[in-house]
Amino acid sequence: MGKRPKISVIGAGRVGEHVALFCAIKELGDVVLYDIVENMPQGKALDLYQTMPLGGWDSKIYGTNDYADIADSDIVVITAGFPRKPGMSRDDLLKANADIVKTAAENVAKYAPNSFVIVVTNPLDAMTQLAWHVTGFPKNRVMGQAGNLDSARFCAFISMELNVSVRDVQALVLGGHGDDMVPLPKYTVVNGVTVDQLIPQDRLQALIERTRFGGGEIVKLLGYSAYYAPALATVKMVEAILKDQKSLQACAALCEGEYGINGVYCGVPCILGAGGVEKIVEIQLTKEEVEALQASAGRVKGLVDQLKEFGYIK
Ligand code: NAI
Ligand code: 2OP
Repeated sequence: MGKRPKISVIGAGRVGEHVALFCAIKELGDVVLYDIVENMPQGKALDLYQTMPLGGWDSKIYGTNDYADIADSDIVVITAGFPRKPGMSRDDLLKANADIVKTAAENVAKYAPNSFVIVVTNPLDAMTQLAWHVTGFPKNRVMGQAGNLDSARFCAFISMELNVSVRDVQALVLGGHGDDMVPLPKYTVVNGVTVDQLIPQDRLQALIERTRFGGGEIVKLLGYSAYYAPALATVKMVEAILKDQKSLQACAALCEGEYGINGVYCGVPCILGAGGVEKIVEIQLTKEEVEALQASAGRVKGLVDQLKEFGYIK
């Protein structure tokens, strides 16, 4: 028997603590929860550990302020950073979060050099590219979570519109994690039936717009950003890798020519398995959809260029 997988979560805020919780209740491995705030990750980890006997879940959760405790992790999830406040775009977080992600990535490279890294911190695609650059890991081992969340939001809105079970709905949303993301109705189905046969065009367009601004809608309501769905969207990636599921998921991956995008992280359909991002799948898109994807990647490139200007990326 191999050892139990070790999953480290950097940033024990709202998203991080729920990543830890979902990993633990799915028994994907033992979890280390790291944060810069003293005592806080230890307190949350203790509470989470004490949750396990109640559910009968065989997982252990430890909290720490010491990066050395992430040693030899199989997977590291980076959620450390500032979330959006009302009126802010994800891109407004660039400078504030680049320092945090850089430090996290340096420590991942030092203590967990063989790990897979899943970035969640916004602006997502640019922060993933920064983590890839700083760790120096191969591209298959560094990826970002956004597509699962954006796709789940589209699923939820379709379920509400048609009053059908969310279980019956599957959706695909590609592109960078911004208002320019690219929902794909022709790959969005209710038990195999494409949504454009079930929902009139004007309503479908309204649901697409609601999906694009789905993060902002929650920020407006709560005053801070979403965390339940973002956390489970991330754990879906963790699970695919640890269980070698060969699962097709929309992830931020380094494109090198796919969809005409070069040298930039962007949300594309990926096969996730024991090799991390094992493959970027090139699906059929219309000319307009490819252009929308490239425009979204162009925005990410603008952020990456800013990171270069500020000296984060050489
Ligand atoms: P939060 O404020 O609840 O938690 C962030 C945590 O990071 C805090 O506990 C803070 O102490 C910690 N932190 C700050 N500096 C740190 C450092 N240098 N080292 C380690 N930890 C540090 O925020 P929340 O809601 O958990 O969001 C975290 C990030 O995830 C934000 O950037 C947010 O925009 C992003 N996000 C991304 C989503 C996605 O789909 N990619 C969805 C939801 C949030
Ligand atoms: C979201 O989409 C803020 O990226 C975060 O909820």
